Amino acid sequence: MIGIFDSGVGGMTVARAIEKKLPHYRLIYFGDLARTPYGSKSPETIRKYARQNTEFLLSRGAKIILIACNSAASVASDSLREEFSVPIFEVITPAVKKAVANTKNGRIGVIGTRATIKSRIYEQKIQDLRPGFKVFASSCPLLVPLVEEGWLNKRETKMIVRRYLHPLKMKNIDTLVLGCTHYPLLKKLIGPRIGKRVRVIDSSQAIAADLQSFLAENPEVAKILSSGGESKYYVSDVTQAAMETAERIFGRKIELRIGA
Ligand code: DGL
Repeated sequence: MIGIFDSGVGGMTVARAIEKKLPHYRLIYFGDLARTPYGSKSPETIRKYARQNTEFLLSRGAKIILIACNSAASVASDSLREEFSVPIFEVITPAVKKAVANTKNGRIGVIGTRATIKSRIYEQKIQDLRPGFKVFASSCPLLVPLVEEGWLNKRETKMIVRRYLHPLKMKNIDTLVLGCTHYPLLKKLIGPRIGKRVRVIDSSQAIAADLQSFLAENPEVAKILSSGGESKYYVSDVTQAAMETAERIFGRKIELRIGA
């Protein structure tokens, strides 16, 4: 099974993208709703939670781990790789590769939670690949609660999105990375507000494509991932808002089981 975790149900945007690209594989998902949000927590706490989430998924049969949460990926990927021997994927690297390949003017914008932006992981990874590129990163802490409230098309959300994107627009970026699980759900608002000339990179799409190539290149790993059967979605708490967000992401009802 492909194990995926996030701080909540936002990471289901990644599960959904993988389900579409790799429909024959079974997924096991864990959303840490009891302790969400991660984006406002310290790196130490996020690392501890990421380790516990990984242990849970492995105990349920996951053979590879995918960190769907940008906040966890930005501070916990290295420690998880040191601690666990299974392949660990995260959402940041594929999005960075796609952004670097896409930009023409070398000016890339990134939006994410406070934890992600404060870690400077996007700057570091982009500049490791292309030292001359300029990265403009901005935290948008109000967007996660707006998505969780289902305010995807409200006037207030549009105003806040415009306000957050304005400084990046002024920087003449030509590529914008959605560095948070929840932001793909706002893509329709973000696109027109950042402008037609800016390509918006959705990290859930980028990681699904990366995983597909990895499995094609590593058939021995592909073989141990059970195919067929039912994917399972666990959470550490169930809320009405989470059930609605999950349904919105998948376009169907998702059974959320209590786990961990
Ligand atoms: N999953 C988080 C991320 O991608 C957003 C929600 C949170 O702050 O926990 O950064």
